[in-house]
Amino acid sequence: MIRPRRNRRTPAIRSMVSETVLAPADFILPMFVHEDTGDVPIDSMPGVTRWSPASLVREAGEALALGIPAVVLFPKIAENLKSPQGEESFNDDGLVPRTIRALKAAHPGLCVITDVALDPYNSDGHDGIVRRDPRGNLTILNDETVEILCQQALSHARAGADIVAPSDMMDGRVAAIREALDAAGFTDVSILSYTAKYASAFYGPFRGALDSAPKEGDKMTYQMDPANLREALRETLLDEDEGADMLMVKPAGFYLDVIARVRETTTLPVAAYQVSGEYLMLKSASAAGWLDEKAAVIESLTAIKRAGASMILTYFAVQAARWLRENTLKVVKKS
Ligand code: PBG
Repeated sequence: MIRPRRNRRTPAIRSMVSETVLAPADFILPMFVHEDTGDVPIDSMPGVTRWSPASLVREAGEALALGIPAVVLFPKIAENLKSPQGEESFNDDGLVPRTIRALKAAHPGLCVITDVALDPYNSDGHDGIVRRDPRGNLTILNDETVEILCQQALSHARAGADIVAPSDMMDGRVAAIREALDAAGFTDVSILSYTAKYASAFYGPFRGALDSAPKEGDKMTYQMDPANLREALRETLLDEDEGADMLMVKPAGFYLDVIARVRETTTLPVAAYQVSGEYLMLKSASAAGWLDEKAAVIESLTAIKRAGASMILTYFAVQAARWLRENTLKVVKKS
């Protein structure tokens, strides 16, 4: 008789037939940084901290020691440095470039990724420059924004970023950033494009962490409608054509079909972002005792990898890397 259960019989057999193996090298750790000497726990994301640059460098070192190869930086910018055009976003002495330099000096082997978008710097809280018509309607300007994004990417490259990750969903920005980087001699700096970034309710806790929520309106004219899948494939083809090195789908857990289809559509590496709302759901249900945190988190990350993501941005990166290490030791001991 054919018995599929034979392949599930022992931990050793299960480990051999496992189709998806999660490893710390799959993770990218998103890190929050602010202009302060203290570290502040983030209310909207229990267990996540907004670090001073010095603490961030230390914590990134711990992540690297656990086998996590990359971090991505998200700054909280002081209110008085925000402006309609977000000029602070390309200040070479700004918070992000200084943090990149400190990271690269302390951990040359760490891959430093930066978020390229205006929302932390823009006094309107949008990812692009806002124009308001006399009736008060908002337009997010595309081409004017792309020019600033190029400046921002260049300032990150000058500071030593390995990968810039435009997260704004403006049209044409991958090609423009590639051209700007190449023209300035940064031919080796990669672009990880947020290819299919949905206008999701699950970014709420993140915006709380950075005070970066739009002051007015929503992001529906640039981020994608959660109802759409074919549009993600269109963005995939465009980003490939424009010269992206890696593509991202965001959020992750509710968009596994998108990850799978993007994976089939491109030969480029695919990343997925388990966003703040996904983190918070798992975290709060575990804190209430309703979920087994370790099992639920590992399952959620395994599912994202199974769907086709080879890189996962997750706030659980450090904890999950520790759990994976414990599990490996356990399997070895039992067999
Ligand atoms: C903004 C940006 C956002 C996130 C990453 N970059 C929020 C947004 O688009 O409003 C969300 C990440 C998360 O929720 O964990 N460029």
